[in-house]
Amino acid sequence: MRALIIAIDGPSGAGKGTVSRVLAAELHYRHIDSGAMYRAVAWKVLADGLALDDEPAIARLAAEARLDIGDGAIRIDGHDVTRAIRTPEIDRAAAAVARLPRVRAVLVERQRQLGADGGIVMEGRDIGTVVFPRADVKIYLDASPDERARRRAHDPAHAGGGPLAVAEVATALEARDRADQTRAASPLMAAADAVPIDTTSMRVEDVVREVLEIVQRQLEADGGREE
Ligand code: DC
Repeated sequence: MRALIIAIDGPSGAGKGTVSRVLAAELHYRHIDSGAMYRAVAWKVLADGLALDDEPAIARLAAEARLDIGDGAIRIDGHDVTRAIRTPEIDRAAAAVARLPRVRAVLVERQRQLGADGGIVMEGRDIGTVVFPRADVKIYLDASPDERARRRAHDPAHAGGGPLAVAEVATALEARDRADQTRAASPLMAAADAVPIDTTSMRVEDVVREVLEIVQRQLEADGGREE
């Protein structure tokens, strides 16, 4: 059976992380969180004292850094940044880094290499549009702004230990959505051929089941072609 490339895009809090993780485990595929790559680069930009608009220096850093994004832990140049990249400061820094076309070009190339052999679930903002425009399955997850803010505020990985105020998270999320949607380089949008799923009032297992059905149909269509 062919190992597929599955692209999961959408804004923060739409459920990409949880859904991609469970889906990859079900299919025995690799799960790559491309946002964690932008976050890890942003972490190192701050750690090295670079300016967030120094595009040539950040592009060089993104190209040369050793990035380990194995399932679960994220390391950059040997530093385990798994927790350190989930802070409001890195939320902002990663959005700034993600605006820079030369940095995107470097990370997109690295993402293509990671997925070259298929058998991958990659989540992000531009996976179905730019990174893998010929992905076998493209899903665009979304949810209402209120629900996305509620999920983010209650996500221990993002709350840095304590619960955050939903209103505060909603304001930050709105600013970041705007930055992601209006940037010139690869703004967040659904690919024309992506299947949209509104997860606002869905349980994770129901979203996963729906995506698995789409994957199954793709695998069956493949089988049909091979005969
Ligand atoms: O999904 P996330 O919140 O961890 O992403 C961090 C930042 O990186 C966010 O501002 C969106 C950006 N990003 C991107 O531009 N392209 C991707 N493929 C993934 C994330």
